[in-house]
Amino acid sequence: MCGIVAATASREVAEILMEGLRRLEYRGYDSAGLALISNKAALQMRRRKGKVKELEMALSHQPLTGFNGIAHTRWATHGEPSELNAHPHTSGGRVAVVHNGIIENHESLRNELKEKNYKFSSDTDTEVIAHLLHYYLEKHGKSLSEALRASVLQLEGAFALSAIDIAHPNQIVASRRDSPLVIGVGIGEYFIASDQLALRQVTDRFIYLEENDTVLVAPDFLEVRNAQEVVVERKITQITSSPEENMLGSYSHFMQKEIFEQPKALHATLAATNDSESAGLFSPEIEKTFDIIKAVQIVACGTSYHAGLVARYWFEELAGIPCQVEIASEFRYRQRVTQPATLLITVSQSGETADTLAALRGIGSAEFVASLAISNVDNSTLVRESDLVFLTKAGAEVGVASTKAFTTQLASLLAITLALGRRNGMHEDQEQEISSALDSLPDTISGVLKMDSQIRDLSAKFTRRKNALFLGRGVYYPVAMEGALKLKEISYIHAEAYAAGELKHGPLALVDEDMPIVAIAPADQLLEKLRSNLEEVRARGGQLCVFADPDSGLESSADLLVLMMPDCADYIKPIVYTVALQLLAYYVALNKGTDVDKPRNLAKSVTVE
Ligand code: M6R
Repeated sequence: MCGIVAATASREVAEILMEGLRRLEYRGYDSAGLALISNKAALQMRRRKGKVKELEMALSHQPLTGFNGIAHTRWATHGEPSELNAHPHTSGGRVAVVHNGIIENHESLRNELKEKNYKFSSDTDTEVIAHLLHYYLEKHGKSLSEALRASVLQLEGAFALSAIDIAHPNQIVASRRDSPLVIGVGIGEYFIASDQLALRQVTDRFIYLEENDTVLVAPDFLEVRNAQEVVVERKITQITSSPEENMLGSYSHFMQKEIFEQPKALHATLAATNDSESAGLFSPEIEKTFDIIKAVQIVACGTSYHAGLVARYWFEELAGIPCQVEIASEFRYRQRVTQPATLLITVSQSGETADTLAALRGIGSAEFVASLAISNVDNSTLVRESDLVFLTKAGAEVGVASTKAFTTQLASLLAITLALGRRNGMHEDQEQEISSALDSLPDTISGVLKMDSQIRDLSAKFTRRKNALFLGRGVYYPVAMEGALKLKEISYIHAEAYAAGELKHGPLALVDEDMPIVAIAPADQLLEKLRSNLEEVRARGGQLCVFADPDSGLESSADLLVLMMPDCADYIKPIVYTVALQLLAYYVALNKGTDVDKPRNLAKSVTVE
């Protein structure tokens, strides 16, 4: 939801800002802009509607220079995507601001500022921040950092923001509330960004800001103040991952790269669950909590919610632990009755999803035994604010469609199932079977990836369709939901998932020869039931594509295409089948020519409600 990057140095920063925007584009791509203070202390700005490459083109025709600047890539909330609504927003020709989040009281602030004769040139909530800063600088003679502190006190809602002022040509100010913001520490230079990924080309040292911190940086100066406006020291963390980790390499898209990275990501995640040395994974605190819990409540959004739905089957069937799963945006606003001794598990790739964070922040003080975050991003807000943390080791996920984050979440949840099952009377043989199944997971996924060209061929059947149905039963119902989400998200084909037994209660009316139907048919105790559901579809002319086990007894025919999945233990099949559905969505989107990594209207990190 919008990416911010800022830099103050003793060298040109335009290219640093542009590289930062390219790396942050996953956060929003409706428009982009940057503002620099020139060496003659003049404010210069370029903004363009559309992706960062439009801004890049504008700069190649009319370059900007300067040692101090801010930049932004936008995911529109207030005001349509347009050049006028693109950030930075300015005031009085001296102040420029970039912002991520939503200023909830922007209307009343706008009215107050209009009474003070401020003119608005955009429909955004952000513009009020520029005018507020200007007001405190100009009318109250405050310094830039004082003006920032006075302004943020007036803001309601969520924000990460950064601003420059030509009267303070070496300084940048920034602040955050409910939106992420990091400071990159260079040698004689400082950077600010929504995500450290934006700055990995210039530094590996970061400061993670806390709620309501305000910051002032100049090339050789850093001051952080906390919510009480007291100057504080914040820890510098050195990152060890390679800056190249989020480069495309030989792949065409990040989604493709991330699908193919899954064996490695799963291996790393599972290795970490077995390594007692690694921070946070099955720490003694987690073990102690597992000893006392009697139930689990999972809260998440989107793909992470689907991971929770799969885990419910595992927790209840394998570990005998009652489990509820809820979408965070519903959970946070609902009056709940929580069973005693319940563990809250939040699942989030980014650890910054606004609804998931709000759900965590909104729980009653004694409602849960503890909160456990399963996240892919160390130092994310969710990780910092949870009692316990379980980090997946998927590596940076750049494609908006979540792939390796989902499968590593599932592997983590299955490892947790095992840990809970051990305490709840799981038979040693079963424990051993689950353990070996997890060990075999990376290799089995490599087997699915070998189906690449087969699935590519299958994808042609979907390219011209407007709708698709995904069917599954039991634990494969949420897998079908994830398959449908992947397809709709990147190919824009309307796709719905149904528990196959529900078909005849309504959706069967949709089935005709134009409706492709994807079914997930492993050879489990529900296979015979599923076969009957497939016959119901066949009888109505539906085009069936079935992902099945070698021993399912299903065979391809004129109206039934069967793709055989690698043989593996039942426990890991939800993960294994998911990868085939990811490839299907990827190739359908590729055939349709959509922007696979940056699908329209979406952003990777949903930091607004
Ligand atoms: O970072 P999170 O896991 O909290 O994100 C939750 C959803 O926004 C995310 O999974 C979304 O549904 C994906 N784009 C799906 O591919």
